[in-house]
This record gives sequence, C-alpha cells and structure tokens, in this order.
Amino acid sequence: MKIYQITDTHLAEASNDLDTNLIRLLDIVNQDKDDKVLLLTGDLANAAVPAAYQRIRTYLEACESITHCYALAGNHDDLHVMKACFKGNKIKIRKSAIVNGFPFHFLDTSQKPLGNDMDLGAGRVTNREIAALRKAIRKTPKLIVSHHPIIDVSGQWFKQIGIENQADVVRCFNHKRTVISGHAHHYFDIEQGNVRQLVGIASAYGFEHQSNTPQRNSYLGMSIYKASWSQGEICVEHLNNYLL
Ligand SMILES: [Fe+2]
Repeated sequence: MKIYQITDTHLAEASNDLDTNLIRLLDIVNQDKDDKVLLLTGDLANAAVPAAYQRIRTYLEACESITHCYALAGNHDDLHVMKACFKGNKIKIRKSAIVNGFPFHFLDTSQKPLGNDMDLGAGRVTNREIAALRKAIRKTPKLIVSHHPIIDVSGQWFKQIGIENQADVVRCFNHKRTVISGHAHHYFDIEQGNVRQLVGIASAYGFEHQSNTPQRNSYLGMSIYKASWSQGEICVEHLNNYLL
C-alpha cells in the first residue's frame, strides 16, 4: 500500500499560494489508483482558524479516489477546532485505524509543554496517550504517526521545539517500530534504538537543518512511501519526495 504524507501545509485564514501547493499535491495523490492512504501530519492551519480546515475539507471532497485520509494536529493546530471542522468528513482524526490490513496508531503531540524550558512550537504527549502508545505497540506491529518526531533528528534549535517528554515516549518502544512524522519541514530517515523515524517534507516551505537557526528554503512537496508485510513485520520503503 502506498502512503502519501502531506504535512505542514500551514494554511492561512484566507486562501493563498500555500493552498495552491496543497491542491497540486492532492491532485497527484488523487490520480494514483493504487491502494493508498493519505496522512495529514499536522500544522495544517497556521493559526488554527476554522476557515483553513474547511478549505482543506473542501479540497479533499473533490478527490474521489482518496478514500482513506487521516489527520493529526500539530503545534500550530487546535485539535478541537480540527475535529469540529472535519466531523462527518472523509478526513478522520483517530487514535488508531486499520487501512488495507495495515494497523496505524496516531500519537497526539500537540499538547503544550508543562514547563518553561521549551520554545514555542514544542509539544507534549499526555500520560494517557503514553499509556495508549505503550499498549498499542507492546505486542502487534503498528505504524506510528505523529506530528513531532519522537527522536532527535536535528540540532539544538529543533530540539527546543520538540516533545517535552520525549524520553517517556521513546521508552514505550520495546520493539522496532516505524514512526512517520512532520514538523521538521525536511526529509529524514533515522534509526535509533527501536525507533525508525521517518520525517516527510512540508508542502508550505522547507527548513535548512544544516544551520544553527531555523532558515527557510524552497525544498517543499510531499513524501511517498510503500508499506508491505515481511515475516510478520511492517516494512516501510521510502519511494520518493515529490517536489513542487
Ligand atoms: Fe510543527
């Protein structure tokens, strides 16, 4: 099954070039008639305004061949506003799902940090979410999806906008599992301990991770993967980054 990841669309209250990026990417996904799932991995609206989510909903409604679509919230989103706007629509916000036989677990990292050590953009996973994650991945293979990457993929500035209780999340991984995230606006494929962390490119703009401070670049589009079963485990192959 193909996995299309569109992330960090950062739509504004009024339609602009970022909407055009999203529409172009959705058109590519819609043209693919293979078994597929679309993951919208957060920071969908730049300021969590309903108008932005409603436009995403409208764009998806025009894509008839996209029947499996799951979204989660990023640090720029408001989960409650998202849920209200996507209610009854093909964009699902779930804790877990099975798509074409592949089990997914969606981890909400969009809660605000409890302490003052992190920078604006950081997230936190609630104790309840941690318990659900531990239970979900204890025995059966799962593909984990989140907005914030759960391991360090870049430098200190990016760590400052990461998950406040990252260590608690990583401790849940008692087996090797693949995590697909956004937030970094850059493609990464990094293995550390039991975590294989994939991070997809953003549709809004890229981030230069060689730099010590966040610098934008024009490396943008979406990431495409293929999931398959091998000896009872889920294998995820990165097919390509579709660039706009
Ligand atoms: Fe983000």
